[in-house]
Amino acid sequence: MKVKTICCIGAGYVGGPTMSVIAQKCPDIKVIVVDINQDRIDAWNHEDLSQIPVYEPGLDRVVAEARGRNLFFSTDVNSSIQEADMVFISVNTPTKTYGEGKGMAADLKWVELCARQIAEASKSDKIVVEKSTLPVRTAQAVKDILHNTGNGLKFQILSNPEFLAEGTAIPDLDNPDRVLIGGDDTPEGKEAIQALVDVYANWVPREKILTTNVWSSELSKLTANAFLAQRVSSINAISELCEATGANVEEVAKAIGTDSRIGPKFLKASVGFGGSCFQKDILNMVYISRSYQLNEVADYWEQVIKMNDHQKVRFAKKIIKNLYNTVSGKKIAFLGWAFKKDTNDTRESAAIYVADFLLSERANICVYDPKVPKEKVYADLDYLNTRFPEENRQLVQVATDPYEACKDAHAVAILTEWDEFKILDWGQIYELMLKPANVFDGRNILDGAEMNQLGFRFQAIGKSY
Ligand code: NAD
Ligand code: UGA
Repeated sequence: MKVKTICCIGAGYVGGPTMSVIAQKCPDIKVIVVDINQDRIDAWNHEDLSQIPVYEPGLDRVVAEARGRNLFFSTDVNSSIQEADMVFISVNTPTKTYGEGKGMAADLKWVELCARQIAEASKSDKIVVEKSTLPVRTAQAVKDILHNTGNGLKFQILSNPEFLAEGTAIPDLDNPDRVLIGGDDTPEGKEAIQALVDVYANWVPREKILTTNVWSSELSKLTANAFLAQRVSSINAISELCEATGANVEEVAKAIGTDSRIGPKFLKASVGFGGSCFQKDILNMVYISRSYQLNEVADYWEQVIKMNDHQKVRFAKKIIKNLYNTVSGKKIAFLGWAFKKDTNDTRESAAIYVADFLLSERANICVYDPKVPKEKVYADLDYLNTRFPEENRQLVQVATDPYEACKDAHAVAILTEWDEFKILDWGQIYELMLKPANVFDGRNILDGAEMNQLGFRFQAIGKSY
């Protein structure tokens, strides 16, 4: 079977870039990305490509090439499902905030709604592809809903998790380490797998397209994120040991990373990992493990999250300790709010939690981030519900210029590793700040010796100056 039309439900950080690249690489497939959020769809259709809702280097060029040719963004979910022979589910699967499994399990409300809508809208057989990250065995529930609607149609369910990282989504999609497709080991299942393999084979070498059973595919996605997050927590644990012993975490990372069995990537000590997925996916895995009474397995992975929480608190406490144990009424500049560079995404960003801790100590914070607007900073803080929204607006300012953010500050904290922070005029910033002028580099992007020479009191992660 040859796929002619793809519908993707969910025009977010995954659905948008993934489908744009599929449309770019497969000009003979029509790709319709649908969402219930009208503003988001309007933004994807915006004439000015700087207004598309996801900031990713290179994405604007891909959208410019394919949009209106074979790539469309729409809120007309039902007719797009009807038109498609393959439907991707790429909706959000956040941690549950209520009821059984609150704070741990994945909330599958949106996925289930999608399955029901596909069942209701379809007038012909379809291949349904789970693109969202889902707990192992979710495909069973999707299958159950689709096969019990009594419309007599046949649905094949595939799992095709996405491994792109934000900030590098386009190169990751252009040249993936692998594409993973899970499906049933039946003739119909195999045919569906082949149809999706053929889509990716338009640009991905065949040997990089792995096919497995559905459960292996679902679990591999959770496992990949758990391993990646574990590496960050492991190096962050070592960073604390480095600070206590006089070792340098970058030297240690290099020394171990040159061992080909360990490898050099994902060993950057930091203020803590953020992003919408690492924490959510590990919590989900912990929850599933406990539900099978695998308590040791659950405890093992939970520690990755505990270490990450500790790293964020440790950074905030270091700021307080160095400001003579009080930050009350003191201005602290935050350079960066996004959870990593080259994205406007702030979900679970370490900056939010460090800010919240300092605000509870009555600090005044002034944030500068090149891609995050003011409303987002306030929304992130309000969402925590730690204090009234008016208090957040009183204590937190958002600057549109880094020098303005640092003016009259007691301390500057670097929370995101934006390249532009490396080339700021730090001499000028020193002049603008109150003395002693403190810099806390939560991303190890600055040269401590140079900063000391300029007069700063400088602290980084896992190394001393
Ligand atoms: P997102 O919140 O950016 O986008 C999800 C979109 O789905 C939203 O725009 C929402 O309005 C829409 N939506 C929800 N229910 C809908 C419905 N019933 N009909 C139509 N639209 C609906 O989320 P995201 O970051 O794109 O993540 C999506 C999934 O991909 C998650 O499961 C996530 O774990 C996974 N994932 C994310 C990343 C990443 O880098 N963000 C990477 C790999 C996998
Ligand atoms: C991560 C995975 O890398 C993707 O493969 C996966 O598809 C995605 O999650 C997902 O499922 O959502 P992402 O969260 O976009 O991608 O970005 P990462 O580059 O993995 O960074 C995550 C966090 O870890 C960031 O806050 C980053 O600053 C931090 N990090 C990363 C470190 O502190 N040190 C490192 O060495 C690497």
